[in-house]
Amino acid sequence: MKKHSIVIAGGGSTFTPGIVLMLLDNLDRLPIRQIKFYDNDEARQDIVADACEVIIKEKAPEINVVKTIDPETAFTDVDFVMAHIRVGKYKMREMDEKIPLKYGVVGQETCGPGGMSYGMRSIGGVLELVDYMEQYSPDAWMLNYSNPAAIVAEATRKLRPNAKILNICDMPISIENLMAQILGLKSRKEMQVRYYGLNHFGWWTSITDQSGNDLMPQLKAHVKDHGYAVDFSNAGQHVDKSWQDTFKKVKDVYALAPDTMPNTYLKYYLYPQDEVEKTDPNYTRANQVMDGREKHVFTECKRIAENQSTEGATLEIDEHASYIVDLARAIAYNTGERMLLIVENNGAISNFEPTAMIEVPCIVGKNGPEPLTQGEIPRFQKGLMEQQVAVEKLVVEAYEEGSYQKLWQALTLSRTVPNARVAKALLDDLIEANKDFWPTLK
Ligand code: NAD
Ligand code: G6P
Ligand code: MN
Repeated sequence: MKKHSIVIAGGGSTFTPGIVLMLLDNLDRLPIRQIKFYDNDEARQDIVADACEVIIKEKAPEINVVKTIDPETAFTDVDFVMAHIRVGKYKMREMDEKIPLKYGVVGQETCGPGGMSYGMRSIGGVLELVDYMEQYSPDAWMLNYSNPAAIVAEATRKLRPNAKILNICDMPISIENLMAQILGLKSRKEMQVRYYGLNHFGWWTSITDQSGNDLMPQLKAHVKDHGYAVDFSNAGQHVDKSWQDTFKKVKDVYALAPDTMPNTYLKYYLYPQDEVEKTDPNYTRANQVMDGREKHVFTECKRIAENQSTEGATLEIDEHASYIVDLARAIAYNTGERMLLIVENNGAISNFEPTAMIEVPCIVGKNGPEPLTQGEIPRFQKGLMEQQVAVEKLVVEAYEEGSYQKLWQALTLSRTVPNARVAKALLDDLIEANKDFWPTLK
């Protein structure tokens, strides 16, 4: 089997060590000859990559390791770009969450004003990665999970239409792991699903076992009372208290459309006030992550680098991230794996905007994804999705044209924002906070 060369863009990410451990655990499925770490913050990347180098030396010394902030070095001679950058880092995530909360509006990194703010920063960063890849390794594929994935995917569709980029989200994977647990299955791969929506905005319409037997009744019986709450030790990265609350809240989200199973993120659109009320405006998710995951990962990484050994280290394989290997294998070996991806609609949902970036099951092979037709969707979901897709498209147009007006419209149109006056006040605060990142708006 061919051995692959991979660059991890956003090498300094808190998820990088878990992904490296996962890649090393899957070398029989996806052989690797080289792993490169690329970031634009050298000091941050060094903390993570120095530890990853020790891990790789111990587990697979034959793999060549490169750590760099130079795009040419990073993007030359690679088969896959695994991209998880966060433009503005946690400091700006904190602003994205706290500014809306000042107005009693949902403060979230991918939904509502926070997502739009992050989107306006992320688009340029991701387009830059696409351009480096096309310049230095034109045959490579980018597996992108940089957020906000919905807006980033719309931006790459529109501004880099021929780019070999696959946009994917891990939320459905984590939810399917919980569903499998609810159903008493060993793995989510024992289920076959139908699903449609936008990223962080979708519904499962059918869940069967591999023989086609309907598993929905058993799931519904659990979800109507408990949401996706289970024994959370299997929830991978989504184990902490705030995620457990999210999985419980699914009960209320489910109640609105009880013939389907919802994505957890719908709570921000359907119950925004509940979310605002239970959020501490001075200590948001960004603070939890900085004091939790970031601190843990960085402390462990520093210890590994200092000892030049992983002995006693508590960094764990990110098992749930093995979907990234499934995706890379689908491209490398034309496996025809069925996976949920964020792709251009183009008729897959027959009564929905053809150019919308939707999330649906796709068959993935050497030449990319083939979306599976989901047919017509009902009025409730269609109405919600039309509003949200308009928000996402307006953000990308605002970025492209440098248009204040369009971003104001996008904010006004979001279900999370009460009116145009609040939208304008929010926009003016977000412009000020993002002045080092956003294009100038006129
Ligand atoms: P993080 O801040 O720990 O890591 C992001 C890294 O990106 C940082 O080291 C930063 O310096 C780097 N970076 C920022 N701008 C860059 C640029 N222009 N070029 C190169 N590097 C750049 O963040 P994290 O919490 O580990 O998350 C990383 C990303 O993955 C985020 O976008 C997050 O939203 C996303 N994510 C997505 C999913 C999904 O389901 N799609 C799941 C988990 C995380
Ligand atoms: C899920 C979503 C991601 C998001 C992450 C945030 O995995 O699918 O898109 O980035 O949650 O998690 P955090 O722990 O950083 O709040
Ligand atoms: Mn996601």
